[in-house]
Amino acid sequence: MGMIETRQSIAEEIIEFRREFHKYPELSFHEKRTSKIVADYLRSCGLYVQEHVNGFGVTADLIGGGKGPTIAFRADMDALPIQEETDLPFASVVPGVMHACGHDGHTAILMGAAKLLTLEKEKLKGNVRFIFQPAEEVNPGGAIGMIQAGVLNGVEAIFGLHLWSELPSGTFQTCCGPMMAATDRFMIEIEGKGGHGGMPHKTIDSIVLASHLVMASQQIISRSIDPLESGVITFGELKSGTAFNIIANKAVLEGTTRSFTPEVRNTLQQKLEELIEGLEKIYGASIKLDYQCGYPSVVNHEKEVKISLEVANQLFGFDSTGIMKPNMVGEDFAYYLKEVPGAFCFVGAGAPNKPIYPHHHPRFRIDESVLPKAAQWFCQLARKYLE
Ligand code: NI
Repeated sequence: MGMIETRQSIAEEIIEFRREFHKYPELSFHEKRTSKIVADYLRSCGLYVQEHVNGFGVTADLIGGGKGPTIAFRADMDALPIQEETDLPFASVVPGVMHACGHDGHTAILMGAAKLLTLEKEKLKGNVRFIFQPAEEVNPGGAIGMIQAGVLNGVEAIFGLHLWSELPSGTFQTCCGPMMAATDRFMIEIEGKGGHGGMPHKTIDSIVLASHLVMASQQIISRSIDPLESGVITFGELKSGTAFNIIANKAVLEGTTRSFTPEVRNTLQQKLEELIEGLEKIYGASIKLDYQCGYPSVVNHEKEVKISLEVANQLFGFDSTGIMKPNMVGEDFAYYLKEVPGAFCFVGAGAPNKPIYPHHHPRFRIDESVLPKAAQWFCQLARKYLE
């Protein structure tokens, strides 16, 4: 087969694999079937494969024909606890589990990239490590365990991508510095004193206190954070009360904070603590805060962003490649970037002429025609970096 025919058949394989993973999605830390398919395929490409890295993680090493550094490419393999509501012929057959973030595509793309690179490995002046990690979707994330298992040993730089349904298919974006947020989580338990709805003076009203807390915490963003920095405090849950005429003795609030820098991250936590201490005194209630740090922010490195964009310019076209506005979603790719330089990039996968659903939505879909191009991006990136 000629090179073009081979490329075409790899492109078809990528889409087939993506559909296969989509039909049989697996939750975080349960990627048994997926990782087996990945490992078998990479082995058939002639790579040095390691299975069961941090559970169901897989790594594969491609040794180039010439001597040079090693770079790493990473994909995530897990799906989400969501009941799929698409009418795709390859929709999930696993009840309550769905690839609603595009990780099926990420896995298939990187498998294709591995195969493409094996075709030209003699020409490569260095090595490529392919990292397929479990559990991107749940804290503490699969990345930490992969790093502890040594997947970054000897790696000079790392790259990863995320398909993004809210960008038009065939576009490519990334940026230097903070690109995605640190995602922390908190739970607040307010213990007041219940009583008769007509006699508030004999109670400590947990609902009034909770309301005060929610409103006052919004001022942490507006009054304690530099207006040129970014931060979010979101209360996603507020539970309290039993009847319309009873003053609630208890309220439970849960939420998340988002930030790009360690300074803002610390300020958000610290100010929330101070606010709670103050409210305890004012109201005479007891308030417990459970603050859990999630993923740090994804911070891209300049040199790696530059080369990512150069390659994308050639492949996706100058008009379709751009500098991204950072967003407040989280990604455990952040941990790799704390260890070695690298870049995380977004590849637009919004299906043309179809309604766009956000990631983690039961009707989420991607335009899979972009997958082979994304595989080529990895491939050309390796060639260029190792030049
Ligand atoms: Ni994702």
